[in-house]
Amino acid sequence: MTLEEAKALVKSRLSEKRYRHTMNVKKMAVKLAVRYGADPEKAALAAILHDSAKELPREEMLQIFADNDIIAKNAAERPAPVWHGIAAAILCQTRWGVTDPEILSAIACHTTGKPGMSLLDKIIYMADMTSAERDYPGVEALRAEEMENLDLALCHALERSVTFVKQKGGPLDPVTVAALEDIRAVCAGGAGRAVTR
Ligand SMILES: [Fe+2]
Ligand SMILES: [Fe+2]
Repeated sequence: MTLEEAKALVKSRLSEKRYRHTMNVKKMAVKLAVRYGADPEKAALAAILHDSAKELPREEMLQIFADNDIIAKNAAERPAPVWHGIAAAILCQTRWGVTDPEILSAIACHTTGKPGMSLLDKIIYMADMTSAERDYPGVEALRAEEMENLDLALCHALERSVTFVKQKGGPLDPVTVAALEDIRAVCAGGAGRAVTR
């Protein structure tokens, strides 16, 4: 799937507001890809498609999981806000001909992170958290940090996400907790993968 095809596809599936968010995520993802030496084209495609299932009805997402249970694993048992990334990755793979496992992974984990995130996973997660229209307190600091140290920024972004879900009293996805523990260990170990380039 080309970038133009992906854009046309999501434009037909998303509200204007979410399409604008998507384009902002794409811009930030390409910026991060250039900064950290990831493939900008892959980053762009993953970003364009990341929210492609966000506006599907709940029943349709559950049907996608049921029809693709080997790929979906236990998605239906996870908190509903994380479903759309997994559903999008399944649609990409099964209907839209996106075969690159790195792109599929980045789309699938864009809401939650996961342990052992790849560079592209991190880029899409952070681009979604820091796209131009985001205006929550602390987003500017996160934007500065992600250009300096991607792992540390990811750690802070995941901490923010966990705190946010707890404050709202919503169900916390165990994968997010595991992702945070994993990236904390990476940062504590001083691996500094983000500043090696
Ligand atoms: Fe999303
Ligand atoms: Fe998003």
